[in-house]
Amino acid sequence: MKKQTLNVAMIGHGFMGRAHSNAFHQVGHFFDSPYALRLKVICGRNQAALEQMAARWGWEEIATDWRAVVERKDVDIVDIGTPNRLHHDIALAAAQAGKIIFCEKPLAMSVEEARRMADAMRGRPNLVWFNYRRVPAVALAKRLSDEGRLGQVFHYRATYLQSWGPDPARVGVWRFKQSEAGSGAMGDLLSHSIDLALWLNGDIAEVSAMTHTFAPGREVDDAVLLLARFRNGSIGTFEATRYAIGCRNRNAFEVHGSKGMVGFNLEDLNRLHFFDAAEPPVVQGPHNLLVTATEHPYVSKFWPPGHIIGYEHTFIAALGDFLSALESGQTYHPNFDDALKVQQILETVTISSKQGSWIKVPGAPA
Ligand SMILES: NC(=O)c1ccc[n+]([C@@H]2O[C@H](COP(=O)([O-])OP(=O)(O)OC[C@H]3O[C@@H](n4cnc5c(N)ncnc54)[C@H](O)[C@@H]3O)[C@@H](O)[C@H]2O)c1
Repeated sequence: MKKQTLNVAMIGHGFMGRAHSNAFHQVGHFFDSPYALRLKVICGRNQAALEQMAARWGWEEIATDWRAVVERKDVDIVDIGTPNRLHHDIALAAAQAGKIIFCEKPLAMSVEEARRMADAMRGRPNLVWFNYRRVPAVALAKRLSDEGRLGQVFHYRATYLQSWGPDPARVGVWRFKQSEAGSGAMGDLLSHSIDLALWLNGDIAEVSAMTHTFAPGREVDDAVLLLARFRNGSIGTFEATRYAIGCRNRNAFEVHGSKGMVGFNLEDLNRLHFFDAAEPPVVQGPHNLLVTATEHPYVSKFWPPGHIIGYEHTFIAALGDFLSALESGQTYHPNFDDALKVQQILETVTISSKQGSWIKVPGAPA
């Protein structure tokens, strides 16, 4: 059967430009889909860098004006991989032009922006790159939780630890500018942890938070810590920082319930720790599961059992799921509405850290 071609326009050609370009190429190799993605045009500000990027990753054209790109009739999908400041304006223009939209996290700089974006795309195909939901071990944690194998959840504990905050070579980067990034570790790292927490453990009702900036004069938070009460009665702690010396990208969580526990750490992404309290006490202990069996999520899409995967597969799997949802007319998650909920929590965290008190998350009953 001839596949339907979807022309992609990628805005931004940095780290995520590469991760997404790879996923656009690879998705059809691993996932069955009636769509063929065509890497039509990649847009940025630096002509020479764009030419290099297009040559290396197989983009047909380059462009430097994103407004002209999103209005092109021959573009079906607009993928936003720019600094956070631009997400809103690009998404609204692309929505206006009737495009499918993919957007990097955090969705926006504020709840107001995120709400406008979600309103503009509700009921229309869209995706937010909270890619860690597609790690097989994380998807297995979700399956075990949905099957009731954790029982009543008591504790949710998440840490997202990086260490590049004090690096003098990174001083001028957009991630440290309030006007470009909106926040520091909060939007960059905590947003991922909150998305996973909402997915794995449900809504957060209220938070008590602190933010801290170690670098003198820096405009954004270097670290954020918070306590949370979930609607299901469990309590949570979150820590996201760019000053965790010794940890390059430790995105980890543990969930303790009445019947068991799961634990995940991105530094060892093919593994899930699972403790099953229903086992006889003489053999009870944490199982260190290598999540590479055919029965595990996503594994059969990639390699034979036992063959590990990496960071890039999370983007490929997200895209594979999106194309399958597009084909069947189902709503893909996480989408702009899901990311709006994350944004609401980030804003509540900011208010709480300023006021030094517990704050209810808007729309979430205590
Ligand atoms: N999902 C994840 O795990 C993950 C990881 C890293 C970054 N991100 C997110 O992805 C986004 C981009 O981050 P990155 O690490 O790729 O940044 P980056 O600095 O590597 O790349 C940003 C790109 O945006 C382009 N850009 C800036 N202004 C532009 C403009 N006016 N028009 C067109 N292009 C413009 C730059 O030229 C550059 O190519 C951010 O929102 C970030 O939070 C997500």
